[in-house]
Amino acid sequence: MDRAAAISVITTYIHDEHLVRHCLATGAIMKHAARHLHENEARWERIGILHDIDFEQIGGDMQRHGVTGAEILLRHGTSADETEIIRRHNHLLHKGTYTEPVEVVLQAADSLSGLIIACGLVKGGNLSDVSVKTITKKAKEKSFAAGCDRDRIALVDPVIGSPEFYGIGLAGLMEIREELGLK
Ligand SMILES: [Fe+2]
Repeated sequence: MDRAAAISVITTYIHDEHLVRHCLATGAIMKHAARHLHENEARWERIGILHDIDFEQIGGDMQRHGVTGAEILLRHGTSADETEIIRRHNHLLHKGTYTEPVEVVLQAADSLSGLIIACGLVKGGNLSDVSVKTITKKAKEKSFAAGCDRDRIALVDPVIGSPEFYGIGLAGLMEIREELGLK
């Protein structure tokens, strides 16, 4: 499944524009982190794009988040290993069990994506005005984008240090900023 196919699948199941953008942003951070770690960029990006595919199907039942996504993805021919990573990404069920770099980075990317988008929005939608310094400062403000779990972002520290990871995330989002409705 290439990027276009992954987007086509998620937009079959996700109708909220913000959620689609969240998935694309998470995918972009995964891609750039994979590049940094000499991992498979297309695979990591795909996992990021697909990770929340079930969010509108579960009707708010977070016990089903990931489980339902895995069922959907298997029907669409996603490989067993990628499906398993997505099934397990629900930290409410699997917190404390992430050891593989791809799983750790997915946790962090899932939360950092919203934080960086929020930074862009406070700059009037100009992501190009956001710097690593902006993100570092805003990450310390607990009330800013409070839904973006700082503890999940911190999980990436042993794999990629925080300021560096912020830079990777920003580069990822800059690459697709028009798709995110940002400048
Ligand atoms: Fe997510």
